[in-house]
Amino acid sequence: MSAIHMDIYLVMSLDGIVALDPDHDISGYSSREDREFFLESLKAYDSMLMGKSCYVRDAHPGIRRIILTHNPPEDDNPQNYYLSGSARDIYEQMVSMGCRKTALLGGPSTCLEFLREGLVDGLYLSVEPVTLGAGMRLFTDQALVTRWTLARIKQLNDQGSLVLHYEKAGQ
Ligand SMILES: NC(=O)c1ccc[n+]([C@@H]2O[C@H](COP(=O)([O-])OP(=O)(O)OC[C@H]3O[C@@H](n4cnc5c(N)ncnc54)[C@H](OP(=O)(O)O)[C@@H]3O)[C@@H](O)[C@H]2O)c1
Repeated sequence: MSAIHMDIYLVMSLDGIVALDPDHDISGYSSREDREFFLESLKAYDSMLMGKSCYVRDAHPGIRRIILTHNPPEDDNPQNYYLSGSARDIYEQMVSMGCRKTALLGGPSTCLEFLREGLVDGLYLSVEPVTLGAGMRLFTDQALVTRWTLARIKQLNDQGSLVLHYEKAGQ
């Protein structure tokens, strides 16, 4: 068993787009029900991990916000930790900080770093019933084969917003 259980949470369109561009997210297309699902799910984690460009403000007290950047800002919020290094280095730093269950919130390039190293145990992919045509694809355009087993599908509303929960194949 890995020292940290790590799950990715991402919202995507039906055609697999997760951002319009690096500066514009797709939150305008995500559902209220998905937002609620996400905030409720976070309660099960001791930490949330994210690239700097997708800093998430919402976090319940007690959860650590681990923000990856090479240029940490002045920040006296005790909930925030700024780390840098390879995905493996960051993982080891998080182990020594006492993290045991973390939600990896993106963006796509940060997710790819941890997927490449085989450090991700689960995927929670929220699929919103909209097509966007162009933008940043889930986990970017780089080749990477990973295999998963469906654990659960949850329908969030009548429009058909879905959460697909996959676990690493072979677990
Ligand atoms: N649909 C969704 O669920 C979802 C979720 C999250 C984000 N997004 C969207 O995705 C887009 C951004 O994605 P992205 O892939 O370009 O950015 P990202 O992964 O959020 O952030 C990349 C930045 O994070 C820092 N970083 C990443 N790995 C690092 C490491 N190992 N060590 C140190 N710093 C590291 C670097 O910041 P520095 O340059 O400061 O060093 C890097 O420029 C945005 O539009 C965002 O809204 C969508």
